[in-house]
Amino acid sequence: MMNCLQMWPEPVVRVQHLSDSGIRVIPERYVKKPSERPSISEPVDKEINIPVIDLQNLYSDEESLRQETSSLIYDACSKWGFFQVVNHGVSHQLMAATREVWRQFFQLPLELKQQYANSPATYEGYGSRLGVEKGISLDWSDYFFLHYLPMSLRDQTKWPSVPDSCRELVAKYSEEVVKLGGKLMKIFSVTLGLRENHLEQAFGGEIGACLRANYYPKCPQPDLTLGISSHSDPGGMTLLLPDECVPGLQVRHANNWITVKPVPNAFIVNIGDQIQVLSNATYKSVEHRVMVNSEKERVSLAFFYNPKSDVLIKPVEELVTEDKPALYSPMTYDEYRVHIRIRGPCGKSQVESLKSPK
Ligand code: OGA
Ligand code: NI
Repeated sequence: MMNCLQMWPEPVVRVQHLSDSGIRVIPERYVKKPSERPSISEPVDKEINIPVIDLQNLYSDEESLRQETSSLIYDACSKWGFFQVVNHGVSHQLMAATREVWRQFFQLPLELKQQYANSPATYEGYGSRLGVEKGISLDWSDYFFLHYLPMSLRDQTKWPSVPDSCRELVAKYSEEVVKLGGKLMKIFSVTLGLRENHLEQAFGGEIGACLRANYYPKCPQPDLTLGISSHSDPGGMTLLLPDECVPGLQVRHANNWITVKPVPNAFIVNIGDQIQVLSNATYKSVEHRVMVNSEKERVSLAFFYNPKSDVLIKPVEELVTEDKPALYSPMTYDEYRVHIRIRGPCGKSQVESLKSPK
């Protein structure tokens, strides 16, 4: 099995190359089944958006405002699995600069980016597919994946050396986003009725953190494909910096696909499978996907905040009751990840398959 993870089963095609080649018809491999295509005709209220939370309100002098904000967070995590956070403490200028440096990276000539071509052994570097199954359906995106934590996995020589400022910005940005992730871990613990550092300890006292810069090239037939197929995020939580002007992310809610309308300078936060497991499914890791379009490319930065990879993740005792027995069997994040790496994005089948037999 490890052998088959050392290399891709077929030559990798850069989606950006397909897009730049001027084709009018996308290759079959990118065409989704009709049931999975982004149907634009769904009768969804255009005004609906995921909840927006002002983090500063949690530290207000007014007790009622603090309470109200806590319950907004609880509702967001238990009903949506997603929210946008503003007044989060990360420098807006740093956010914009980091996103723009990645935009510039993806605009570099293909030969240059090719030096960073990744393999399924670690996924680090420049990539164009998830999952190693031969003939697997492909998504309309390229990406760059890198490790920030633990320190033993951080290797800045694998990060882009062009543009000049890339490595430095990524390091600064990651440092800030990890701080925000730590704050949210405390907030999630408390809103779940646990001690402030409960989730942090359950994560093993140290975290894994990685960044995936996503690049969604223009697509001549956006109705037939997706930038990322429906999936839930496997890790702890994700802090996403979306493109400021190009929408694309859709979240499944009450059996509809809701298109997220990004609030300026906000992060989109979502619960991943590991927090769903720890919270015994009180907090939900919700399916999401990305639409592409024919007008504009889109860049987003997904920062994954994960448990230490070798600690057993299982529902915390305080959230297991007679009425709600443990829904999941213990598993390390390392073991869990193997499923995803083989199969690529596929809805919520991973976390569902974890469920203990009743
Ligand atoms: C992801 C993801 C959404 C986006 O990288 O896991 O869901 O808007 N990205 O790029
Ligand atoms: Ni995701």
